[in-house]
Amino acid sequence: MCGIVGYIGTRQAVPLIIGGLEKLEYRGYDSSGVCALDAGKLSVARAIGKLSALKNLLKETPVIGTVGLGHTRWATHGRPTEINAHPHTAGRISLIHNGIIENYSELRHELEAAGAKFSSETDTEVGAHLLNFYLGQGLSPIVALRTACSRIRGSYAFLALDSAHPDRILVAKNSTPIVIGVCKDEMFVASDIPALLEHTRSVIILEDGDIAEVTKSGVTIEHDGKPVTRAPQHIAWDAVTAQKGGFKHFMLKEIHEQGRVVADTLRSRIHESGCEVAELGLSDAELRKINRISIVACGTAWHAGLVTKFFVEQFARVPVEVDYASEFRYRQPVLEAGTLVLAISQSGETADTLAAIDLAMKETSGHVAAICNVVGSSLARKISRTIFTHAGPEISVASTKAFTTQVTAGLLLAIALGAAKGNLSPDRVRELLTDLAKLPAALEHTLSCSGDVERVAKKFSSSRDFLFIGRGSCYPIALEGALKLKEISYIHAEGYPAGELKHGPIALIDENMPVVVVVQRSGLTDKVLSNLREVESRGGKIIAVTDEQSNATLSQYATEVISVPFVSPILSPMLLTLPLQLLAYYVAVQNGTDVDLPRNLAKSVTVE
Ligand code: M6R
Repeated sequence: MCGIVGYIGTRQAVPLIIGGLEKLEYRGYDSSGVCALDAGKLSVARAIGKLSALKNLLKETPVIGTVGLGHTRWATHGRPTEINAHPHTAGRISLIHNGIIENYSELRHELEAAGAKFSSETDTEVGAHLLNFYLGQGLSPIVALRTACSRIRGSYAFLALDSAHPDRILVAKNSTPIVIGVCKDEMFVASDIPALLEHTRSVIILEDGDIAEVTKSGVTIEHDGKPVTRAPQHIAWDAVTAQKGGFKHFMLKEIHEQGRVVADTLRSRIHESGCEVAELGLSDAELRKINRISIVACGTAWHAGLVTKFFVEQFARVPVEVDYASEFRYRQPVLEAGTLVLAISQSGETADTLAAIDLAMKETSGHVAAICNVVGSSLARKISRTIFTHAGPEISVASTKAFTTQVTAGLLLAIALGAAKGNLSPDRVRELLTDLAKLPAALEHTLSCSGDVERVAKKFSSSRDFLFIGRGSCYPIALEGALKLKEISYIHAEGYPAGELKHGPIALIDENMPVVVVVQRSGLTDKVLSNLREVESRGGKIIAVTDEQSNATLSQYATEVISVPFVSPILSPMLLTLPLQLLAYYVAVQNGTDVDLPRNLAKSVTVE
């Protein structure tokens, strides 16, 4: 959730750290801070708000030193105040943390009884005092850190400086990512790879339970008290991918990337004779044994799960349940033999999804799989059967390209399963794959609706509420449209199955309520049209998002019609999503909100 960057080398640490934090700012941004050691003297600077506040502070009060740490915070324990911002200092120690210390209260009482003076409301400060306490007992830095970690329950990525040992950064990891960027005569440590890419492509990914000492010339790692070697990996990401590439916002750039990244997701997975989800590592015989799929995910990924349910039930005739991971993990789910639990996550770091998978692994003897975007993420490391979505780094907090690639991966899985189970004939598989191969180009063409969407967005941007409705696989798309709008424009929006309108939400309809209807040409079209009549007769303003061939019909009901190319029904959910992403985007731009860094949200929700 928070952004972490550390540097040790021969250059001034703070400017490099700030550069790295800027790349990670999307991870957490209610406050930030840095510290550095210069000739054994520790300096700290912290500020509330965006990184610019910290940068201004540093202009007045520079923090000097060739070893330092930086942090951007998204509050969990304690309000977003300067005093709660990281780094936290205790005696010799200055420490930054990402995660949650669950037993911080009892540790705090214990440390206070031993004389420690706390100044913040955070759980993190316990980490600083605990480490300082064990150093005070005469333990070496690494042993003190190991001992402190053994007392802590919860998740953490800790980076600490010890003023008595200015030649190293102390690092510990449990359930929260940490990567080390290896350079010549200098090292970077970060919570996420993009923070390092400017400096190096050689990256060590730490494992849960690793404890490390990083000096300017090397890394020493131990696990369970024993030395381990973690080979650096070469990261091939293009640094430009992490830039806005000429667009005003990352979100708009990422919306425009969808054709390309969906092509990447399909690449090498569809061919003449069928489609392959080899990463699942399941033979056709094993696929045939799957008699239920239980999907766990959060937010946008949960919506991708709902669309995947339609595909899997249609093509493989396998029943699918889709759970919010946060509910699944606490509801004693019934997971019979033959159930495959499928996690969907862009980041692979979402705490609830990881916990749901831990439960599923126990209950199904490891019969789990994932659709994930981040190679090397916690989820991908837990689950060897991971279909990677290849959406590339998604920087905007509002998920866009991750969604379309997740749905694409779900569709591939559905076709592979349907084929293995004999529910799809080889001819039907070929037909579906021929359609699927057209998806990237169709997504590109869909973007030509941008002008229309921008005009509609301007017209309705002052509305206080929106309803989004759809039927069949358009219902999860309506949910996704509503989520996008509320996330970045802060306008209240709700998604409903169109058939549910008259069971309650229709009471809300009047001339001030725009109703966005997502319509795919199908056997349900007439039913949606009668739902629209109900809206129209109550004065609701209808914005229809549909295909070119349905445009004329919808124009009879709707104030505005936005159309996407007419394609095979299996591709429509993906195409119909794009105008909704653009609608949210242009409404937010019109209203002047912070599109890429919406208030109260973080890109990756790594705490419960
Ligand atoms: O990284 P994940 O896919 O696991 O993230 C799940 C949700 O937190 C995420 O989709 C969230 O809802 C986005 N902000 C949606 O735009």
